[in-house]
Amino acid sequence: MIAKLAVLVAFVAAATATPAPKPGKDGRYTISSRGIKAQFIPYGATLTNLFVKDKYGKDVDVVLGYDDVDYYPVDPSHPVYNAIPGRYVNRIGGANYTIDGELYLTEKNDGDNTLHSGTNNWSFRDWEVSHFTKDSITFSILDASNSSQGMLGDVYASVTYSVKGSTWKISMEATSPEAKTPLMLTQHTYFNLDAYKNPDTGKIWNHTLYMPYSQKYLVADDSAVPTGEIAVAEPGSINDFASQRDIQLGHASDDPAFPGNCGAGGACEGYNGYWLIEDAPKDAVVLSLVSTFSGISADLKTDQLGVVIYSCNWFDGSQSLKRTQGLEGRTTVDRSSCVAIEAHDYVNGINEPQWGRKEAQLTGPGETYKWESAWTFGLT
Ligand SMILES: *[C@@H]1O[C@H](CO)[C@@H](O)[C@H](O)[C@H]1NC(C)=O
Ligand SMILES: *[C@@H]1O[C@H](CO)[C@@H](O)[C@H](O)[C@H]1NC(C)=O
Ligand SMILES: *[C@@H]1O[C@H](CO)[C@@H](O)[C@H](O)[C@H]1NC(C)=O
Ligand SMILES: *[C@@H]1O[C@H](CO)[C@@H](O)[C@H](O)[C@H]1NC(C)=O
Repeated sequence: MIAKLAVLVAFVAAATATPAPKPGKDGRYTISSRGIKAQFIPYGATLTNLFVKDKYGKDVDVVLGYDDVDYYPVDPSHPVYNAIPGRYVNRIGGANYTIDGELYLTEKNDGDNTLHSGTNNWSFRDWEVSHFTKDSITFSILDASNSSQGMLGDVYASVTYSVKGSTWKISMEATSPEAKTPLMLTQHTYFNLDAYKNPDTGKIWNHTLYMPYSQKYLVADDSAVPTGEIAVAEPGSINDFASQRDIQLGHASDDPAFPGNCGAGGACEGYNGYWLIEDAPKDAVVLSLVSTFSGISADLKTDQLGVVIYSCNWFDGSQSLKRTQGLEGRTTVDRSSCVAIEAHDYVNGINEPQWGRKEAQLTGPGETYKWESAWTFGLT
């Protein structure tokens, strides 16, 4: 109780140390550096716009989002655009888990499974702006015990976004003072490095992806829940992005397995899986996403053990592009036109103790979870 009070006091103090920051006229909080302009809203601690320079020196908005900040909370399809889902991202297979032999039932909001903690996930909440300067912003949230069904103990979390030169850094912390609880976070960033302006293609398939430390991936079932098996992607095979630098996301589009490679009984084309990051030297770039059209490269460093790659199969053109994106005649987010890249620990690791990640995915009582990633943008 005392520990809880101390955390609460520290949390409130952090949140009230400076007068409540205000967004700009467009409803966004803007931070910038020499190479980057990034904009955010408290809803979901969401990144709405990320401008970096293309090969002509022009500013390109490389992430998905909406022009109207008021649309985020009412968007019926809510694709978790560049938000922070929590307190436990991705799927909980069978919507249950155990801690020390005790069974917890979570909400089935994705077939028989739980996705992003259920319908009260953090990406649907208004976070507090607790710190704001010209190159950094911090959002905070108190997640009350059981506010997502079956996840007990209050959690105090914050995310700090900062920019410096051409690097966008993301740091998260979450403390669970009173209970042992599942905690696994990510920044759910959706990219199209061409801002949908490549006249030759509106698809993501010509972006290249290089993950030199990610030969292995989690085999998943039709509903994208890992089966427990860890497989090796042989060079040239459908899930190989490790063997060479210039592998296009569509490299296996002629493979008969491509249309069902992300499950859904063959209805999901491309990728919605988890790749392990193994034996990466400290501070190594573990992932590079590149488009030769814009010439933009995005290099990821992270302290996480793997990354989800989702090639936007479930978009169907019902979402509008921002004014900063698209072409005449191309104004919507179409199927397979973007890629979400989400660094986090092994999917559903709380239910697969043989991976040795279960205890690491449980935090508390009195412990703090930490997460850090950085994207550096450059030119090819
Ligand atoms: C827990 O999930 C597993 C699948 O991972 C399922 O087989 C089992 O029936 C579920 N248990 C309960 C009590 O819901
Ligand atoms: C997150 O919560 C919202 C609001 O309750 C819900 O509509 C949405 O389906 C949830 N997202 C996911 C991925 O379950
Ligand atoms: C958690 O909330 C659910 C409803 O969402 C309720 O059925 C359950 O009893 C609650 N559990 C605890 C321990 O409060
Ligand atoms: C773009 O990707 C498609 C699908 O993989 C491929 O057929 C095409 O050759 C690629 N175009 C270029 C210019 O690389």
